[in-house]
Amino acid sequence: MDFKSLRFKLTLWYVLILGVLLISFSALLYITLSRSLYRDVDQKLRSLAELIASESSSPFFKFGLGSIDQALEASMNLKPIGKFIQVLDESGRIGRKSENLKGIQLPISLNALRNASKGFITYETNHSVGNTPLRIITYPVKENSQVTKIIQVASSLEDVEDALAKLLTILAITVPSILMIASLGGLFLANKALKPVDRITQTARMITSQNLNQRIQTLKVKDEISRLIDTFNEMISRLDQSFRQIKQFTTDASHELKTPLTILKGEVEVALRKKRLPHEYEQILESNLEEINRMSKIVEDLLLLSKADIGEIQLNREDINLTRFMAGLVEQMKILAQPKNIRIEMNNHQAEDMEEIHILGDALRMRELFINLIENGIKYTEEGGSVLITLTKEIGESHTPLTSNGKRANHFAKIIVADTGIGIAKEDQEKIFNRFFRVDKARSREQGGSGLGLSICKWIVEAHQGEITVQSEPGKGSSFIVRLPSI
Ligand SMILES: Nc1ncnc2c1ncn2[C@@H]1O[C@H](COP(=O)(O)OP(=O)(O)OP(=O)(O)O)[C@@H](O)[C@H]1O
Ligand SMILES: [Mg+2]
Repeated sequence: MDFKSLRFKLTLWYVLILGVLLISFSALLYITLSRSLYRDVDQKLRSLAELIASESSSPFFKFGLGSIDQALEASMNLKPIGKFIQVLDESGRIGRKSENLKGIQLPISLNALRNASKGFITYETNHSVGNTPLRIITYPVKENSQVTKIIQVASSLEDVEDALAKLLTILAITVPSILMIASLGGLFLANKALKPVDRITQTARMITSQNLNQRIQTLKVKDEISRLIDTFNEMISRLDQSFRQIKQFTTDASHELKTPLTILKGEVEVALRKKRLPHEYEQILESNLEEINRMSKIVEDLLLLSKADIGEIQLNREDINLTRFMAGLVEQMKILAQPKNIRIEMNNHQAEDMEEIHILGDALRMRELFINLIENGIKYTEEGGSVLITLTKEIGESHTPLTSNGKRANHFAKIIVADTGIGIAKEDQEKIFNRFFRVDKARSREQGGSGLGLSICKWIVEAHQGEITVQSEPGKGSSFIVRLPSI
């Protein structure tokens, strides 16, 4: 038995409380019964003493001869079985006695005699006669407010003591037996209730990153333990998912780096096969550089995302005039859009009195975010299309994360980057924010994409307590909507 175990402690407490209750109950029962039995004896003694007192002055009783029993029987037809009676005069001299007191007499204490002479009744328990204690009433009889006689009636307390002793024996046997049974029962119940906990422990012990698909068997009854099991299972599911994501991420990352490395290796091998002219080397090196650039971008992006994951990136927040910021950025991006003849502009920039919108943000990250979005817009739009940027203020509840002071912002800057490009199928819209996800791998790669841009965008927006969503129709275009808390 493990004395530190919960089942032991539970049972111990249970038995302890039950024990205190049972013992209190027994004590109360014993005290009440003993008081009531003793009071009963006293009452009977007193009624008999009163009866004898009332009869004691009758001539028949007074002058009758023989024992008190005969006198009582003659005057009242009374046979006081088991009672010892003696009558004394006012000074304490013993007069008539009942037959059962032949040869002996009831003791009378000084205290009782003194009380009686003052007219008070005294009850006493005396142990000096025989084996069993006697209860004695000393009852003064008054005539014309003078104590003329003292009546003593006694009764053995044997029955009372017997009854109490029996009760004590019964309690002494039953209370420990009940406690024994209760502790066994308690242990059984605690065992039964805690059995699932053992199962949880065993399963938890067995789970490693290799077998996160294990689950603890759920219970039919919905109680605290079943809630614990459900919570535990949910936790394993989340861990499982995280591990899968990490594994997937590692596989994707290695794969992504493998392609440019293979190309690089191939190009160098081909170049080394024979002596070449300087301009041929130049060409090969240029192509090499392209692959190296691609790899270093992937590694940079990966590093950024990993740092973001462990919260190592600090945002340098400052007041950004988003209206001006976006206008400047759009101007810069026009150079990128030119070769494809894509029109790129702020949708509402013409309005001179356009309200200025400010946010608290990291300017570098904001630049990265919108360059990524606009770049995508340009990349995935056919020649002659357009990328329009709309900036508006929005007021109202949103499902964005809580801000650092624990409140939900309700003033937002809403930025829409809308293109007229190839669009994204419904089933892919959720996935495009996942790392390394690309709708068309070959096409994306051709354009230098590795599928990390939107993951970074999502991280930047969420680090600013904002949200990013996409609306798109294949063949018509896509709109990326960013909401950021404004000031
Ligand atoms: N404006 C868009 N129109 C159509 N498809 C898009 C658009 N933006 C993103 N996508 C799809 O989502 C995928 C993921 O985009 P993301 O920006 O994360 O990666 P990428 O552009 O391929 O590479 P990277 O941005 O890392 O250079 C893209 O490969 C593309 O298939
Ligand atoms: Mg991109």
